[in-house]
Amino acid sequence: MRAELATTMDVPSWSEIVREVEPLFGSMPDFEAMLIRKIDQGAALCIRSHSEGDAACVLGGLLLGGSPPQGWIRWLAVRSRARGTGIGQCLVEAAIERLNGFDRISVDTFRAENIGGRAARRLYERVGFVAGPLVEVGGVPRQRYVLTLV
Ligand SMILES: CC(C)(COP(=O)(O)OP(=O)(O)OC[C@H]1O[C@@H](n2cnc3c(N)ncnc32)[C@H](O)[C@@H]1OP(=O)(O)O)[C@@H](O)C(=O)NCCC(=O)NCCS
Repeated sequence: MRAELATTMDVPSWSEIVREVEPLFGSMPDFEAMLIRKIDQGAALCIRSHSEGDAACVLGGLLLGGSPPQGWIRWLAVRSRARGTGIGQCLVEAAIERLNGFDRISVDTFRAENIGGRAARRLYERVGFVAGPLVEVGGVPRQRYVLTLV
């Protein structure tokens, strides 16, 4: 499996994942505009399935942000039927590789009490992120995780 830069061809399939995670993330009315912006910047990574004869299906996506020395993972989700097969980890490792040269990468994710966010916390911890401060992002309680690269 390989993470690749997303193109505008991936937007409809990626949007299906957005609809799947809306109950967990909350409504994301401006997501498509953000995704297209990130695609233009080369900051949208995805893993596709390529079943023969079918259009490529996005199985998971990740949006990068920030500028040196501080990188960010702005968004991450895997299609529910494809979870638990390493796609999330592959995307996060690809993000770390692309942000090579940055001092650190942060992500604001779910707090421990949010059961729906446990897989994400476990994933970030497994690749070396450390739980940081409790923060509020747009009034939503989150926990910052930080991976120090230098
Ligand atoms: C977090 C997410 C991206 C992980 O994707 P994935 O492809 O399933 O990830 P991986 O297969 O690489 O690893 C999943 C890890 O989470 C664990 N996991 C899965 N469901 C879990 C749960 N309910 N509670 C705790 N751990 C869980 C798996 O066991 C695995 O860890 P392990 O290998 O150490 O056992 C995916 O679950 C998802 O899209 N969740 C909803 C959106 C989300 O939370 N996004 C992050 C926002 S910051």
